[in-house]
Amino acid sequence: MKLEHNPFVDIGYRGSEYFCDREDETELLRKYIDNQTNTTLFAFRRLGKTGLIQHVFESFKKSKKQVCIYVDILSTTDKASFINQLATAIYAAFPENNGIGKQIIEAIKLLRPTIQFDELTGQPSVGITTINQQQQETTIATLFSFLDSQNVKIVFALDEFQQILVYPEKNMEALLRTQMQALKNTSFIFCGSNQAIMHEIFNDAKRPFFASCTYMSLDFIPKKKYGNFIKKLFKKYVKSISNEAVDFICDWTSLHTFYTQYFCNQLFAKGILDIDITDVKLLASDILALQEAKFYQYRTLLTKAQWNLLKAIANEQRLFKPHAKAFIIKSGLGSSSIVTRTLDALLAKEMVYRNTQIEKPYYEVYDKFLMRWLQSKK
Ligand SMILES: Nc1ncnc2c1ncn2[C@@H]1O[C@H](COP(=O)(O)OP(=O)(O)OP(=O)(O)O)[C@@H](O)[C@H]1O
Ligand SMILES: [Mg+2]
Repeated sequence: MKLEHNPFVDIGYRGSEYFCDREDETELLRKYIDNQTNTTLFAFRRLGKTGLIQHVFESFKKSKKQVCIYVDILSTTDKASFINQLATAIYAAFPENNGIGKQIIEAIKLLRPTIQFDELTGQPSVGITTINQQQQETTIATLFSFLDSQNVKIVFALDEFQQILVYPEKNMEALLRTQMQALKNTSFIFCGSNQAIMHEIFNDAKRPFFASCTYMSLDFIPKKKYGNFIKKLFKKYVKSISNEAVDFICDWTSLHTFYTQYFCNQLFAKGILDIDITDVKLLASDILALQEAKFYQYRTLLTKAQWNLLKAIANEQRLFKPHAKAFIIKSGLGSSSIVTRTLDALLAKEMVYRNTQIEKPYYEVYDKFLMRWLQSKK
């Protein structure tokens, strides 16, 4: 087969052929969308939340009964930029040449937007000027209610939802919750990777979103499924890969989707026809060498205690008991209270995550390559 592109996608979504598993999660999310159930989707960074949403949205694309609108709010910093991002996503979701599309574009035009097209991608971006909070709130309500009145089912995915907490305006949650309750044909997926913040927004009885959504989380893709996927894709491009090599990839990247994809992408790019364990081990050490400068930079950004704790956690791989005497001695931090404080700082900086979704929660270094590099520096 002629080599056209690298089948191991490490940025964005390129279709179900290159998407591994997530069958149950896809079915569940589709069911929630069908039933207009508002959903919170949580998973650690780079595990595949956005990929799953795009995979599910892709599967709805052909059906005219359901319009899927994806809004990434990571780059927004206030209500005004939220409005622009929302309007841009709506504008992009409706082709101007169909009936509803025409009306929606007309409705957006009533808000006197500026519409610019990216020179490289040709993608439109909509800018709406609002003069005060009142007008901003009315604009958000107008955008949602106009869509909702079009007699078509709409689902919004608001990705990186935790970002609304950095807005200077403090009523964003209440505003969106009120909208959500008023809409008849519209449902929402709120997606985020900061477990503590997502938990705060959706599970605190004193906050607007309390008990308003169904919770869904993503776990790691099972080793057997990921291993088969890797083998299948290499085979498709007439390359063979030994079981030992596949095993190594799955273990070394801890099946953390982005890192596994990145590794396979780099491996594929090498163009080796019969991949064995020596090839993957060599690549692993090349990846670490390539990223070393970044890792040393992390060291300058952390305190000595934070760096030592990070190293100690990496060496455990999974740390179940940070306050056990043996671990406190190994980390060199001296006391349980210093471990607590330092661990909190590492969690806040997202250098470490705590997996609480299983029977025995544990701490692990977020960046799998950094983890392997720290382990290699024992
Ligand atoms: N099921 C999958 N099969 C193959 N590749 C995937 C799968 N899920 C995600 N990916 C790839 O892994 C990378 C990380 O996934 P994605 O961006 O969806 O994660 P995320 O949880 O949204 O991350 P972040 O928290 O940084 O937003 C992406 O490049 C994506 O292409
Ligand atoms: Mg994402």
